Parts: sequence; structure tokens; C-alpha cells
Amino acid sequence: MAANIILLSISLFMILLQLLLLPIPCHSTDPDPLQDFCIADLLGTFSVNGFPCKPASNVTSDDFVYSGLVNVGNTSNYLGSYLNLANVFAFPGLNTLGVSMTRIDIAVGGVTNPHWHPRATECGVLIQGTVLLGIITSGNVVYSRNVSVGEMYVVPRGLVHFHLNVGNEPALAFSAANSQLPGTVNVAQNMFGSTPSVPDQVLAKAFQVDQSVVDQIKSKFAS
Ligand SMILES: *[C@@H]1O[C@H](CO)[C@@H](O)[C@H](O)[C@H]1NC(C)=O
Ligand SMILES: *[C@@H]1O[C@H](CO)[C@@H](O)[C@H](O)[C@H]1NC(C)=O
Repeated sequence: MAANIILLSISLFMILLQLLLLPIPCHSTDPDPLQDFCIADLLGTFSVNGFPCKPASNVTSDDFVYSGLVNVGNTSNYLGSYLNLANVFAFPGLNTLGVSMTRIDIAVGGVTNPHWHPRATECGVLIQGTVLLGIITSGNVVYSRNVSVGEMYVVPRGLVHFHLNVGNEPALAFSAANSQLPGTVNVAQNMFGSTPSVPDQVLAKAFQVDQSVVDQIKSKFAS
């Protein structure tokens, strides 16, 4: 039953993803492929925009299937969520194809870190639970709505967004992106947990707090 729902949702996704990609022939995020496929050779020694292809003679059927999204993510962390990114690093078969997927598990009351994707628009379908999806525009307007099972959502490229599990059960969503490597920038960590760190003076002024507050927040991200 659950497997059927997941399969149905995934096929729904692929159709919706294609619809999403259709109207943007010259502005799609990743460049178009120049061959049927190009299974990434992640250990390739030369650098290109993407990854070199492994020799066609080495390609097998397994290169087109990824099993890494099967398991429930471990949400026992301070956020109560786990984002399992099936990008080209995890699934080399995505190389040059301009798509990827993420499995999102969120415990009751859990959140995904407010984050944004520099290289992709994201669209997802909720498979289980109830989630408040929030999207923050460049004009600082928040659009938020509770999303129910089977509903689809879209997050425009580059906008900060978050999910909050407002239901009484673990939530599960699958999100597709129109890039093999969308990039994920977690806002809090980007500001307070980068290496080397952003100077305290900058953060104190930007967030209008004392430097001691900045240091306190920074300490949360110290590894
Ligand atoms: C291709 O297969 C050969 C023979 O199995 C192996 O030696 C080589 O490392 C493989 N190359 C890549 C890029 O996978
Ligand atoms: C979402 O659902 C929660 C729990 O039912 C409710 O408290 C909240 O007001 C809802 N939020 C919106 C924006 O509808």
C-alpha cells in the first residue's frame, strides 16, 4: 500500500516535473545533455561543468536506479528532520540530466532548516503527515500553507523556505529539483557556522545584537 502510494507519487512527480520544465526552454537550470546519458565518473581526474562520463562499456542497468531513498531518515537531531539528497554525488546516473530528488523526513514538531537552492526550483509531494510549508520572497513576504497528503508544492529557485511538521505523526515528502546538484544553503549555518567565520562585527550590525549574542549563536555551530 505505502509502496504503491510512493510509486504513484513518483510517477506523478515525473509528469509534473516535465510540465515544470517545458515552459523554460532557454532558461532551464542545467545545460541540456548532448548524449543519451553520461553516468558520472565521480573519480574522474579532469574538471568539467558536471562530471566526465564513465565508459559506456562499464554502464549497467544498476546505474539507472538508486536505492538510497528507501529508508526512513534519522530525525533525532536538533531540527527533528533529515534531508536525504539524491543528487549527482549520491546517484551518478543523474549526471547531465538536470534533475535530482530529495527524501524529506520530519518528526512531529520538527523543522527543516530554513534554506535555499541556488541552482534549482523545487517541487514536492507530501506522502505522509501534515506540513506547514513556508516560502520567503526577496521582498520579505512569507507565503505559508499547511500541505496535506497527496498535495504538491513548488518552491521557486533561490527563495528561502522551510517545512514544519504540524501533524501528530512523522511527515514524509519527496522533492524533485531541476538540477543534478541544486545546492542547499542553510541560512543559519551559512551566517553563523561558516569557515572561516563571518566577522562578529558584521553579524552584530546586521542582526542588531551585541557581539556576545553573535558568539553565543556561533558556539551552537562549532563542530
Ligand atoms: C571500467 O571497467 C574496468 C574493467 O572492469 C575498470 O578497470 C575501470 O576502472 C572502469 N572504469 C570506470 C571509470 O568505472
Ligand atoms: C496549520 O495547521 C496547524 C495545526 O492544525 C494550525 O495550528 C495552523 O494554524 C495551520 N496554519 C495555517 C497557516 O493554516
